[in-house]
Amino acid sequence: MTEPIKTIGVLTSGGDAPGMNAAIRAVVRTALAKGLRVMGIRKGYNGLLTGDIYEMERKDVSDIIQRGGTMLYTARCPEFKEEEGQVRGAQMCKVFGIEGLVVIGGDGSFKGAEKLAGLGINTICVPGTIDLDIACTDYTIGFDTAVNTAMDAINKIRDTSTSHERCSIVEVMGRDAGYIALWSAITSGAEELIIPEKELLSEEDLIRDIIQNRHKGKRHNLIIVAEGIGKSAELAAKIEEVTGIETRATILGHLQRGGSPTALDRMHAAMMGSLAVQLLTEGKTNRVIAYKNGQYVDYDINEALQMKKTIDNKMIEVCTILA
Ligand code: ADP
Ligand code: F6P
Repeated sequence: MTEPIKTIGVLTSGGDAPGMNAAIRAVVRTALAKGLRVMGIRKGYNGLLTGDIYEMERKDVSDIIQRGGTMLYTARCPEFKEEEGQVRGAQMCKVFGIEGLVVIGGDGSFKGAEKLAGLGINTICVPGTIDLDIACTDYTIGFDTAVNTAMDAINKIRDTSTSHERCSIVEVMGRDAGYIALWSAITSGAEELIIPEKELLSEEDLIRDIIQNRHKGKRHNLIIVAEGIGKSAELAAKIEEVTGIETRATILGHLQRGGSPTALDRMHAAMMGSLAVQLLTEGKTNRVIAYKNGQYVDYDINEALQMKKTIDNKMIEVCTILA
């Protein structure tokens, strides 16, 4: 029988996502309720290497549930991809008495957690990224807030696009993933969608659609492009040149990463953060929390990283029909 864990750490890593604060709060308060000490690690794996670590109390996570960003800060830490950095990270955990660690982040952050688990630190990952691109889970903390932000911005662009009878390209975030784009397109009634996972139509077909839509009496054309495709300004210039219709491109960018988390993000953050601590108290390690078919479950990190996510063809079909 191994000794029960007494001290855990928590960090946020990779791109921030609305709801990360709610997840930190859930980790800290669940741990304290179970009689554990909790150490907050600032700036992701960077803080682990530099020892930017402090003991957290209940009040440290007061008044953060409604805030975007992460009160522990986040960073990308290239050194942690190397074995030397990982060994130093595990040693630093020992210096601070950290036996278990909750890592809130995306796939990249999970790879770091898997290495630490191999070095004897019990690790549990919580999926936090606006991109919804983690294969093992149906939900990642931050996605709903980001989509709502994008939808709100697209509504506003639609107003001015209609007034000027323009074609508007809106580029939304998603480095390699088109989920924000797909959800934004359906929920804002966009005419066209361009995502990295699947070529839905050629440039010629897109231009033909725009012209046909004008003949049908549409006063605007909304085209949602995922960041992974990019080149929105070039596409706008091409559409304007070929169709003669004034075309503008807007890149929404980092505004999609901020803002107060929606109820959905806060709920998943609360449930996942709390479950992460529960698993650590059960002596589990090298696990990722996932929301699958309406249940909170956990997977082995390696197993989770090998899963492949496919874009929902039914949603794409509906997007096309409704456009
Ligand atoms: P995300 O977690 O959102 O996918 P990144 O891919 O940028 O974001 O990863 C965040 C951090 O996780 C990296 O800066 C690095 O510190 C760590 N990381 C990423 N890949 C690995 C890896 N293969 N091995 C160890 N650590 C990694
Ligand atoms: O992973 C989340 C994300 O917002 C991606 O959609 C985007 O490509 C990337 O992070 C941007 O990262 P950075 O904050 O380094 O600009």
